Amino acid sequence: MGGQTIDKICDKGFPMDTLDELKSQILGEIEHATKLAVLEDVRVSALGKQGRLTLLMKELGQKTPEMRKALGAELNALKDVITQALDQRKAQLEEEVLNARLASETLDVSLPPRVMPQGKIHPLSHALDQAIHIFGQMGFVVAEGPDIEEDFYNFTALNIPLEHPARQEQDTFYLPPSAEDRQPLVLRTHTSPVQIRTMLKQKPPLRIIAPGRTYRSDYDATHTPMFHQIEGLVVDKKTHMGHLKGCLEEFFRLFFEDPALNLRFRPGYFPFTEPSAEVDALWKNGAWLELGGCGMVHPNVLRNCDIDPDEYQGFAFGMGLERITMLKYGIEDLRLFFESDLRWLNHYGFAPESRE
Ligand code: PHE
Repeated sequence: MGGQTIDKICDKGFPMDTLDELKSQILGEIEHATKLAVLEDVRVSALGKQGRLTLLMKELGQKTPEMRKALGAELNALKDVITQALDQRKAQLEEEVLNARLASETLDVSLPPRVMPQGKIHPLSHALDQAIHIFGQMGFVVAEGPDIEEDFYNFTALNIPLEHPARQEQDTFYLPPSAEDRQPLVLRTHTSPVQIRTMLKQKPPLRIIAPGRTYRSDYDATHTPMFHQIEGLVVDKKTHMGHLKGCLEEFFRLFFEDPALNLRFRPGYFPFTEPSAEVDALWKNGAWLELGGCGMVHPNVLRNCDIDPDEYQGFAFGMGLERITMLKYGIEDLRLFFESDLRWLNHYGFAPESRE
């Protein structure tokens, strides 16, 4: 402090020493503040409403215009110096606080967890993993399609024209038609539309499974409005019913871990296969239990996908994932799969690392 003018003013009785003193006093306080709260007190006592500098500034009002001008500039400069010192110190202290926290809260990510993960694999996920694994070893690849399906793929292309009674049997959830082309939309009632999507996209030979969610308006101990199917499709030259039987026999024997499992193919009816069959397994209790539907791909379906039925034949099958999972693990009520009851999940769920 202390330009020419100021000295002169000071001669006229303004306590300039006070300013210098105040400056070193406040800067000293700032420097010695070792806690953010203390620093805040310093700020208030200097620049707060009743702060030392603030009061001096208020006093200016009573001085002569000449003094006001010169001293005002000095006081403002002092205020800037102090504000800057406060900011700097604050940043310093904040960094110290952060560093102290970082030092005390180190996390060693290589340490083993104190509690093991609590989650279990849902029996459906587990069974599906196994099914994909088995089919994968048999040369099948996984194909997918959308849950919200166009009527064309879910019905028409599968040889189920409008007015066909099979449409009623499926308890279909209908949706408002699509905005672009007004196509009627449904929640797919089975995974068979993935057959069509695959055949339209890829040339034979084909060997796919299509696991996924399916929907029908039905609810009791053996039906839920959402359930899962696993679809299978093989298209090649000279494919026949014997291949279909061998394929399903191989799969179910591996899935149920029973190399002697006895299967029965009963005549059935599906518009998209001809001939069609229902597959049953002879269960331990001596009863024949239905596992799914299957058959040779109907020539109309091949034609709908631009595949020449005189050159190519195919077989297809569809099974309920819930059904085969219930049979494998002795789960009695289908609805329990979807209730998210932790006690049930703990009992029937699988540890993440197990393959059994
Ligand atoms: N889509 C049939 C159903 O949902 C099952 C099926 C699939 C039958 C493939 C034959 C061939 O019941």
